[in-house]
Amino acid sequence: EQIEKGGFDHFMLKEIYEQPSVIKDTYRGRLLADQGIVRLGGLEDHIEKFLNADRIIIVACGTSWHAGLVAEYIFEDLTRIPVEVEYASEFRYRNPIISEKDVVIAISQSGETADTLAAIKLAKSKGAFVFGICNVVGSTISRETHSGSYTHAGPEIGVASTKAFTTQITVLTMMALRLAKAKGTISNSAYMLYLRELELIPDQVQEALLSEDKIKEISAVFKDARNFLYLGRGYNFPVALEGALKLKEISYIHAEGYPAAEMKHGPIALIDEHMPVVVIAIKSEHYEKVVSNIQEIKARKGKIIAVVSKGDTAVRDMADYVIEVPHTPEALTPLVTTIPLQLLSYHIAVLLDKNVDQPRNLAKSVTVE
Ligand code: G6P
Repeated sequence: EQIEKGGFDHFMLKEIYEQPSVIKDTYRGRLLADQGIVRLGGLEDHIEKFLNADRIIIVACGTSWHAGLVAEYIFEDLTRIPVEVEYASEFRYRNPIISEKDVVIAISQSGETADTLAAIKLAKSKGAFVFGICNVVGSTISRETHSGSYTHAGPEIGVASTKAFTTQITVLTMMALRLAKAKGTISNSAYMLYLRELELIPDQVQEALLSEDKIKEISAVFKDARNFLYLGRGYNFPVALEGALKLKEISYIHAEGYPAAEMKHGPIALIDEHMPVVVIAIKSEHYEKVVSNIQEIKARKGKIIAVVSKGDTAVRDMADYVIEVPHTPEALTPLVTTIPLQLLSYHIAVLLDKNVDQPRNLAKSVTVE
């Protein structure tokens, strides 16, 4: 097992550090930025289904559901196809409206999650076209779907999903770009820019990993907190949810992810000097608004851990701790802002002496309801 961990203390840390190379594996042969090409075999074969779809319904559970939420932003933004994201467990039992004009995307690392599989079967029975995004080759979901794309992240052993998440987002981003190009909903210059920037993501993830020592220090300060709040807006709202989930899963600290602007409708009541608030405050359309959220937290003495764009100064002056991530277009930021949140949950769990790779009560693959 020590050999399999490749010199890392835990599989989770190894998998966090694998992200630059597995993201490359995910787009290898599929993304040719210089030539303006992005193509996924499973999508090309059925592209008309997507182009003629009334809407896309994404079904998934857990971390894969968070990847689906990121996809909702990028698909609607770039392709203008309406998207709904559903917990598979809710979708399957709520008598949903599904027709042959719908395309369903099922996202699953293991390809074995019982609720996701049941949602796929339901969608198929109503005539929808079902596309799978799985990591495990030959898994049940990859066989039960009409078509799909693998993430090529390699085996993920840590129960808390890390590299599966970022590679799922990579596949979904490539799909959105391909469809936007085919639909003519993206300008050529924006398309070429995204392709080039996506190709740079592995280097930027590598750079984000350099914050590990700083994150270790922050972890030592906050490891005994009872609660954490995670805030983000736009593309980084799902990242806030995922950051909170990671912390809950492996450190057993209660954490909530929230869209930053919703803070005033409830969570703000919880903020006092004992509440660490992780805020994703990168340079984006919503930057100023997030900065004002930070001021509100500070006024209530909350402790602010901010994930900021490299070179940011405004947030640095207000936050208790800042973690920098490199610049990339907003639609690609989840791929880098996720990294420090993975490391934060990892180090807190290690300091609390928890079983990082196999947290209590959780399973890697949930094959029962
Ligand atoms: C379990 C795992 C999570 C995972 C979820 C969905 O809860 O512990 O890490 O996100 O199932 O799994 P899937 O294999 O369908 O992505």
